Amino acid sequence: MSEMLLITGCCQLVTLRGSAPRRGSALRELGIIKDGALLLREGRIVAVGKRKSIERRKDARRAKKFDVGGRVVLPGFVDSHTHLIFAGNRAEEYEKRIAGATYEQIAKAGGGILSTVRKVRAADAASLFARANDWMNDFAAHGTTTVEAKSGYGLDAASELKILRVMHALRRHARLDLVPTFMGAHVVPPEFAKRPEAYVDLLVRKLIPYVAKEGLAEFCDVFCDRGAFSVSQARRILTAGRACGLVPRIHAEQLAPTGAVRLAVELHAASADHLEKVNSVDIRALAKSDVTCTLLPGCCFHLGLASYAPARKLIDAGAIVALATDFNPGTSPTLNMQMVLSLACTQMRMTPAEAISAATINAAYSLRRADRMGSLEVGKFADLAVFSVEDYREIPYYFGVNRCWLTLKRGEIVYPSGT
Ligand code: NIG
Ligand code: FE
Repeated sequence: MSEMLLITGCCQLVTLRGSAPRRGSALRELGIIKDGALLLREGRIVAVGKRKSIERRKDARRAKKFDVGGRVVLPGFVDSHTHLIFAGNRAEEYEKRIAGATYEQIAKAGGGILSTVRKVRAADAASLFARANDWMNDFAAHGTTTVEAKSGYGLDAASELKILRVMHALRRHARLDLVPTFMGAHVVPPEFAKRPEAYVDLLVRKLIPYVAKEGLAEFCDVFCDRGAFSVSQARRILTAGRACGLVPRIHAEQLAPTGAVRLAVELHAASADHLEKVNSVDIRALAKSDVTCTLLPGCCFHLGLASYAPARKLIDAGAIVALATDFNPGTSPTLNMQMVLSLACTQMRMTPAEAISAATINAAYSLRRADRMGSLEVGKFADLAVFSVEDYREIPYYFGVNRCWLTLKRGEIVYPSGT
């Protein structure tokens, strides 16, 4: 029989057992086991429960033992929205914004997303890979075990494919799961500035079918907002993606209320992300739908905005709410989900329990993976993060510091490295 691992010393084992996705008050049900234990085999969870009852099992007696020393154990974070593959940084724009320029003004002047596009086009695949691989290790160090990653800083066929192939190589190399999303519709590239419909044609007729045929992405995303793509362009792009098997996701109502949320509901998108400007009619529509509302408070924080997405209204209306970093060089240069939880609690008034559900089981649901991850239940991947705290509420309570002590991906230690 293959080797088993018995994990004990979990002062709180936060299982998130039960139904997925979580809505309303169910977001506050964490299924905590005090003095819990887990039995793992071949990267999966074989048993979960009170230490005493797990230790009594015959197979547990033969297992290798690992005591985590009275710490809090969670399912690894599922970061369901990142723009992982980029080159350079935008520290100069950061300083301009501090001086008063807005994100949209900088973008209009040719900076913003397009400045990262120029750097990514000039970068070779090996350097993009090396940088992203370093970031993947940083994700693991902060308790994240699955990372969704969007293309979208290439915006021509060769550069978008370069990014997607880097992701593909990372999927084979990195120890965390990487979920690829095609986002050729990030903004209209400069070559098509005067004829955006021709760029949409290129995406719909050539790139999307090719990406799908080559198996380079699972999802298709569009930045459907003021200064990016219109609702009708987004509909064309996402419908074409869906026809080839790419599930839609939408960057919706970040800068202005455009109707992107209604499109997400109409297309049964896996997620509508951002939602800073969502109105109450659309909140009701989201609440009745299966679209996950992925909130990205790191953006508002980094852009220095006063108002955040209406998390309370969404949760209280019954919408499926998830949290993610939106890791990217322009609006959210953080990969620390613990910091995102702090922002969610302090700025959006989510409770620590709601934030944890949003960052694990609901995020896994939005990536169509709730059957495999997002909770600590028998049969699921042994993806877990151990925090040096006594109470799960301390995870958002400490902000800007890393309390992660150990991360396991499919039963293997991925942080700290060399362990
Ligand atoms: O999710 N809103 C569009 N895309 C990113 C920002 C990308 C960038 O500024 O580089 C976002 O916020
Ligand atoms: Fe984004």
